[in-house]
Amino acid sequence: MANISYRIKPRTGKIELPEKLGFGQIFTDNVFEMDYSPEKGWHNHTIKPLSNLDVHPASMFIHYGQALFEGMKAFRTVDDEVVLFRPHKHFERLNNSARRLVMPTVDVDEMVEALKELVYLERDWIPTKTGEALYIRPFMIGTDSALGVRPSNTHKLIIMLSPVGAYYPEGFKPVKILIQDDYVRAVRKGTGECKTPGNYAASLLGAEIARKQGFTQVLWLDAVELKYIEEVGTMNIFIEFKDEIVTPELTGGILHGVTRASVIEMLKDMGKPINVRRIQLTELLEAYETGRLTSVFGSGTAAIISSVGELRYKDKTLILNQGEPSQLEIDLFNEIQAIQTGRTPDRFNWLVKVEVPVPAV
Ligand code: COI
Repeated sequence: MANISYRIKPRTGKIELPEKLGFGQIFTDNVFEMDYSPEKGWHNHTIKPLSNLDVHPASMFIHYGQALFEGMKAFRTVDDEVVLFRPHKHFERLNNSARRLVMPTVDVDEMVEALKELVYLERDWIPTKTGEALYIRPFMIGTDSALGVRPSNTHKLIIMLSPVGAYYPEGFKPVKILIQDDYVRAVRKGTGECKTPGNYAASLLGAEIARKQGFTQVLWLDAVELKYIEEVGTMNIFIEFKDEIVTPELTGGILHGVTRASVIEMLKDMGKPINVRRIQLTELLEAYETGRLTSVFGSGTAAIISSVGELRYKDKTLILNQGEPSQLEIDLFNEIQAIQTGRTPDRFNWLVKVEVPVPAV
């Protein structure tokens, strides 16, 4: 494990968090940062005050989008412990994104240790109300300054922290989603399964059109046939039919959600019939007509478990479970929150304790 140098300013005064946190509006005092070069590998491991980036205007990530990010969470448990939720999985996914984008991978264990040090230092920022957490945003950017299109040789990785509440403006109420086929988010064999800014940029126009029509998000269809349900962009999707629960299989265009994987494990543990398979939009529409459709919900680090109250596809409006969260959605939300906050035993081994004898600062 590389030694982390600390260049922090000691905080003066108490942290006052607003009553309603929203998502990603507030940042903690300090970040973790390290640099990569082919000669030195990852170096300059530092925890230092959050500040603006000083980058050359020709930095490759600005022009050619060689960048990636992750999103995970830390919680304070009812026993006053600080825990990270599945951090190894997140850094493994970061490495998958890095390989696809020709960026350097990180040592997962070393990153988890670095994150523990940062979170421990910033532990007083962890909010504790239901649905709140300390959101962790690692990101990596290609920093060579050159205008030819090629992989950058130098890179920077930063981890910043943000106390968050509900991701959607609705809070934890069911969201309204537009099924969109005028645009696509990502195509199989492209970068759809990576957490890379381009996927989010590609989703903005469709999402903006949806927002103007009163919808919170877009449910994207596959980019080849515009036939299969893929994901929402800010969350993976689950469909609860009367006889089975289905989530789309990972075909290359869908993010490998850590919360998605956790929900699948929880559903199996609850003895529910969960199937991972492709789902045609027509199956969903027909199930609504015939009464086979019970509920639709999303899963994501930011979104947690988000009930979908209404779906619109062209002139068809589907009101799901009278616009209220279904019992399954409530159970999953409560269960994942109970695990994350230590109100129920961590029987899946998802939590990593931040027990830090960190260097005195
Ligand atoms: C997450 O759930 O962590 C995400 O990255 C979704 C969104 C905030 C981009």
